[in-house]
Formats: sequence, structure tokens, C-alpha cells
Amino acid sequence: MANLAIVGAQWGDEGKGKVVDLLAPRFAVVARYQGGPNAGHTVVFDGASHALRHIPSGIFHDGVRSFIGAGTLVDPEAILQEIKTLEAAGVPVTKRLTISSRAHVIMPYHRALDAALEQKLGGAAIGTTRRGIGPAYGAKVERTSVRLGDLANPEAVRTVVERSLEAGLRVRLLELGVELPDARALAREAFSWWQKLGPMCGDVTRAMHEAIAARLPILFEGAQGTMLDIDHGTYPFVTASNTVAGGIPPSLGIPPRAVEHTIGVVKAYCTRVGAGPFPSEDHSATGNLIRERGKEFGTVTGRPRRCGWFDAVAASYAVRLNGLDAFAVTKFDVLSGLPVVKLAVAYEIDGERTTWFPASASDVSRAVPIYEEFPGWSGDLRGVRTIEGMPREARVLIDRITELCSCPVEIVSVGPDREETVFRPGGLLDRFERPRSSPR
Ligand code: GDP
Ligand code: IMO
Ligand code: MG
Repeated sequence: MANLAIVGAQWGDEGKGKVVDLLAPRFAVVARYQGGPNAGHTVVFDGASHALRHIPSGIFHDGVRSFIGAGTLVDPEAILQEIKTLEAAGVPVTKRLTISSRAHVIMPYHRALDAALEQKLGGAAIGTTRRGIGPAYGAKVERTSVRLGDLANPEAVRTVVERSLEAGLRVRLLELGVELPDARALAREAFSWWQKLGPMCGDVTRAMHEAIAARLPILFEGAQGTMLDIDHGTYPFVTASNTVAGGIPPSLGIPPRAVEHTIGVVKAYCTRVGAGPFPSEDHSATGNLIRERGKEFGTVTGRPRRCGWFDAVAASYAVRLNGLDAFAVTKFDVLSGLPVVKLAVAYEIDGERTTWFPASASDVSRAVPIYEEFPGWSGDLRGVRTIEGMPREARVLIDRITELCSCPVEIVSVGPDREETVFRPGGLLDRFERPRSSPR
């Protein structure tokens, strides 16, 4: 049985949640490997919409185990709320989910620091989700962080918090006007988190190896997007983790060869939320129209997303960074009715033409996209279920994306619902069938 990674190939919010939910029944295991509650993955079926932040988008399927790996961040209060909401909607989360005891904890002071830093940066702010992601990953790297498994031991939590305060956290918090944590009270609170989360925590690395040894098919779920990768995105306007498929092995403790196939999720256009360069952004009324029609407002923060055209320079870069075997292109329905649809095929930077995504955000911010223009189509695509059933103009666009990025399109999404999907037969996905058993 083969394993498959689903990664964001733009600036996040590409529709990873929909694609993971759609494919999950073909797998025994779905595993989130990086990020934390900065993610907002939407899954829509049976007339209901579910927003997931930590929890893998395979959670709705009986017989599919969901794992949250060591390389992720967990905000205990936020995940408990997320679990409560899902359980209230009838999803037996606690039966299906295991969270790595190695995952690092987002402390309340990480959240407060994130918000205070953004405030302080003013016009130079990154536009983070203010969920404490940067400060919590920073503490992990500084080795002044608490892991989920540590929550069982209030003494250990108190020691870590006290040492962090002594090692510079106190000065930083005071400088930014953030209230200092009371280490003793926080350790007590941490223990109350543990009492609720402990039964769901375990050795996810071991569980992944058991799944690999049993040849159970694994679906890896990325968060954020390739262009937000800490090393390969538009630094510093990025998130704090490796979002690319290469981030999977260290985050789940599995060998690189276990990530056999990779599908990149892209929208038929482009969005970005937060600050940072976005060459194909459309500031005209068309950009606004796409935002309204595509309901481009953040799942986590409600912020309006910046909208623009499909960027084949960025998407080709994502194909190479992730080794994408195929694209899942979402939101094709949103473009219906536009007289013209554009694709950015190259950038011009200081008079030089390039099709390679530049290393520096400053170069990217000076990039002037070179567009190819295509006639649009009209009519509602949400009922379409075959490639042949799509308007000719939409098929031309799909073929051009494939050609420009050297990557076939295997899934076309024509609406938010699970059902509103077109598969191209004869491709990679034909290899993934529904498994007969799953690990306990
Ligand atoms: P993720 O973070 O990559 O999982 O994406 P989000 O859930 O943040 O944002 C994608 C949004 O688009 C969600 O509201 C989805 O329900 C919605 N969506 C996904 N695919 C389609 C599609 O093909 N058409 C439309 N109209 N909406 C879609
Ligand atoms: P999903 O998984 C879109 C963006 C933020 C900000 C930058 C850094 O739903 O696709 P952070 O809070 O991570 O320190 O913010 O990254 N960002 C996302 N944008 N989708 C996401 O997740 C994002 N997660 C973070 O807007 O620009
Ligand atoms: Mg999202």
C-alpha cells in the first residue's frame, strides 16, 4: 500500500481540508505533521461545514485513525474546544485521535507574545494568526518549551516556565507589556489540561512505524502552504515551520522514503492572508469579485484574503520543492462568469524575465507578473462531475496549468462539498483503494 502527502502549493487555504476529507476513506491513517491552530481547514458534507484547526481532516471517517505528530504545536485550550465542538456535532474524536506526547505546547504567554510583537511591529507586522505559533516554535528551538507529555508533571512545567522567565522571557514580556505568567498557577492549569488531553496522547512516532510495518496506507496532511515555508517561502512573511513535503519525515519520525507520493492543492486563482509579497494580486474590482464569490475570508481569523490570479511561477516552484506528482485544483466554480481569466506565466524583475521564484522577498515584491489571458466561461460548474463535462475554456486552463508547471491535474474541485469534485481517471489516485483494516 502506498502513502500520499497532501500539501498546500500556494499561500495556504487552498482547500487541503476538503481534499484530505475526500481521500481519507482510501487510507487507514491521516497524520498532521506541522503547524498548529494557525491552520483552518474546512470540510463540508451533508449540508454542514466543519472548521478544523489542529485535528486532521480525516476525523469524520469511521475506521480512519487520526494522528497529530511531534512536529506540530498544540494549544491545549484551543484543541479541547475544537474536540468539544466536533463531539457535539456527533464526531467521536476521542475514539479516533492520538496526539503525539512529543508535540510542543503553545502556552498562553506565547499567544500574548505573538499579539504583542505584531502590535509593536505596526506597519511592518507579518500579519500572523496571533495563535502563538512563532513564539512557541521559537521556544522549542531555544529548548525552553514544554511538550504535551510534560503536562503530566506539574513540577516539570513549573521548572520550565521559571527557567524560561530567567533566561530572558521575563525581560521580553515586560518590554512588550505582557502580563508575567505565574509559574505555579500555570503548572496547575497545565495539569488540568493533561487530565483531559492525557488519554488522547501517545507515541505517534511508534504508531506511524507500526502502520508502515503493517503496510497500512497513510495520508499526510499539510497545513499552511509552500510559499509560507520558513526556509523556502517569502521570508520573513512566512509561518514558523517547514510546510513542504520534506517536513513530513522529521515531524513524524519516519524515513523520507515513507512519503511516496505528493499531491499539491492549488486554487484556480491565488489568495494570501497577512502581509508579504504577492505578485499576481489583483487590486481591481475583479479581485474583490473573486473575494466575494470565493468567500475569501479567513477560517481562523475572519480576515479578508488578498485575491489574485493563478501564479504558475510560484506553483512550478511548489512542484519542484515538494516533488508533486499531481495537482488538486480547487474553486474552479468561483471563476465562472469572469470574461477573462489570467495566468501569471513569468515575472519581470528590474527588466529581467524569470520563471524561477526568487529567493528574496524584496525581489518578489518587485516582480511584475507577465500574464497569459484566456476567455472565461459562464454557467454553474457545481454539478459537473467529469473533465469532459467542464466548459472547453476551463479545460484549456487546466491543460495550460499542467503544461506550465509540468504537473498533471488529477482533481478539480467545483464546490466546497465533498461531492462537488471531478476526478481525472487513470492517474495516481487509482492506486489508492479503500483499506480493509486500520490500526487500533
Ligand atoms: P485549507 O486551509 O487549505 O483547508 O482551506 P480553507 O478551508 O481555509 O479554505 C478553503 C475554503 O474554500 C473553504 O471554505 C472551503 O469550504 C472552500 N472550498 C474548497 N474547495 C472549494 C471549491 O472547489 N469551490 C468553492 N466554492 N469553495 C471551495
Ligand atoms: P491553512 O492550513 C493561510 C499565514 C498568516 C501569516 C503567516 C504567519 O489554513 O492553509 P503564523 O500565525 O503562522 O505565524 O502566521 O502565515 N498563515 C496562513 N495563511 N492559511 C493558513 O493555514 C495559515 N497559517 C498561517 O496569515 O501571513
Ligand atoms: Mg485554511
